[in-house]
Amino acid sequence: MNRLRSRHVLGISHLEPDEITYILDSAEALKGILDRPIKKVPPLRGRTVVHLFFEPSTRTKLSFELAAKRLSADTVGITASASSVVKGETLIDTARNIEAMKPDVIVMRHPMSGAPHIMSRYVDAAVINAGDGTNEHPSQALLDLMTVRQHLGRLDGLNITIIGDILHSRVAHSDILAFTKMGSRVTVCGPATMLPPDISALGARVIYCVKEAIRDADVIIALRIQKERQGRSLIPSSREYATFFGINRQTLEYANPDALIMHPGPINRGVEMSPDVADCDHSVILDQVTNGVAVRMALLSVLLAEPERADQKNIVDESTGGEHGA
Ligand code: NCD
Repeated sequence: MNRLRSRHVLGISHLEPDEITYILDSAEALKGILDRPIKKVPPLRGRTVVHLFFEPSTRTKLSFELAAKRLSADTVGITASASSVVKGETLIDTARNIEAMKPDVIVMRHPMSGAPHIMSRYVDAAVINAGDGTNEHPSQALLDLMTVRQHLGRLDGLNITIIGDILHSRVAHSDILAFTKMGSRVTVCGPATMLPPDISALGARVIYCVKEAIRDADVIIALRIQKERQGRSLIPSSREYATFFGINRQTLEYANPDALIMHPGPINRGVEMSPDVADCDHSVILDQVTNGVAVRMALLSVLLAEPERADQKNIVDESTGGEHGA
């Protein structure tokens, strides 16, 4: 295959396992470009990517922007505070106005679940969801899959444990869907107030005790408490959360000694994870960040490159002529 079935990437829920594998293989092929002295190849020359970030972001925004630039696309962006949203413009009007400028891709982060889905109905451009409210964050789940596959060589039959604010985390939702679609078993753990009642419908097992939840885990993913999405405090204090659900050297003694430690960032050191765990040999947190650029390059090229050039090997071969790239 060299195309996704949908024109947009709105969630892992819309992707089939063969499409996920195709994106991961593409990202793997494109990743080498990031190690070249000149990190730029031409396949998206003349294409325009608009980055619409209506919520704070460091990693996701920068890596989408870098991914587009690495592939030679023109990029422009706007944040909520600098846009006409603060003057009362509706999302549909924003969509229509952006469409009138004829971009090829709109990468969108928004505090409201479903906002990129609405946008996709009003534009001809491909829409990539860069995180919508508590719903989904598909590129994060894809980079998580890529990182696990890179370190453990496979995605099927693994035990993945996700600890934290599962209720409000779009990363948790996309990761549960992504890892189960690829054949792994997912366990979620966190304070009862932060676990959705219907989580098992997504295929995840719920365990309330961290030591129990990380036993036999091949991968431990810690998540930030999403205070900005909670109407009221769901835990007595950060300190109490750290005591019962934080990952530290003592809790790790209950885990498989080879378990990978992951976190989508931003980390609250000392809350969901102690600093020594965040920086330990088994932590692959910075690999997640690097793979994020590769996955986003893959998404852009799969959505935009001409069919005969969508074979990522062609992009890489065509553009190099050697180590120095185009
Ligand atoms: C996550 C997000 O925005 O959902 N961060 C990210 O994109 N790397 C997780 C978070 O904010 O805690």
